Amino acid sequence: MVTTTSQELLELAKRAAVEAAGYVRKAMSEPHLNTATKSSATDMVTESDRIVEQLIVETLLTSRPGDGILGEEGAQVDTSSGVTWIIDPIDGTTNFTYGLPGFNTSIAASVNGEVTVGVVVDPLRHELFTAVRGEGAWCNDEPIHCTDQDDLALSLVGTGFSYDAARRTAQAETVAGLIGDVRDIRRLGAAALDLCMVGAGRVDAYFESGLHPWDLSAGALIASEAGAQVAGLDDPSPSHKFVIAAAPGIFGALQSRLRALDAAGR
Ligand code: IPD
Repeated sequence: MVTTTSQELLELAKRAAVEAAGYVRKAMSEPHLNTATKSSATDMVTESDRIVEQLIVETLLTSRPGDGILGEEGAQVDTSSGVTWIIDPIDGTTNFTYGLPGFNTSIAASVNGEVTVGVVVDPLRHELFTAVRGEGAWCNDEPIHCTDQDDLALSLVGTGFSYDAARRTAQAETVAGLIGDVRDIRRLGAAALDLCMVGAGRVDAYFESGLHPWDLSAGALIASEAGAQVAGLDDPSPSHKFVIAAAPGIFGALQSRLRALDAAGR
């Protein structure tokens, strides 16, 4: 049984994320150090990804030794407290490796299977996005809200591409089918930040397929607590299969359009 409050989990996640951001900022001067590949030749991992994951795990488990861990770079610990931390040490690794902006550290706390706290830090913009289920979402402690856009044709929509060649080709076909129906499309390169951009009202919507829990968990809570509608293509919850996060005024239209493109084999 979990007796910890969401506020305690939030404070710990913020501390771990801010420490990680400090390391990532310093590591930017040599981001190509020991770069290797993972799921495909295009899926990079740097020594910094692994070091930052280890740093975060140490901070979390030193304070809460009974918690579980699920980390992108392989950290996995079973929970005995009911809390599991879901960690992406550097989301947007390709941006990081090339010295482009648009990467982040993402940490979510799942309590008895439900994501309850989410923290995403953008080390370059010094922005800390946070959310607590049922209590709201913030950027640097200021409340954030999605846009009130209600016209898909005037919407700025973010998306992303998988590292898998066949899946990304299908994703590009979806983008080709959608681009004539919206204001424009952005591929910023970091799913957790894309979701925060929906929450902060800097894009009207975002969609992607093939995301993992570490890409998705913190950002989806932040977008949803900021007033966005967040779901799958056909399911009420976002998942590896599909995530759509959008201002409520355009969610239905975007979901229908994406379903039609999906049904057409895109
Ligand atoms: C990737 C980024 C990218 C998204 C990919 C993710 P990573 O995560 O979030 O924007 O399109 O689907 O895998 O590998 O940089 O942590």
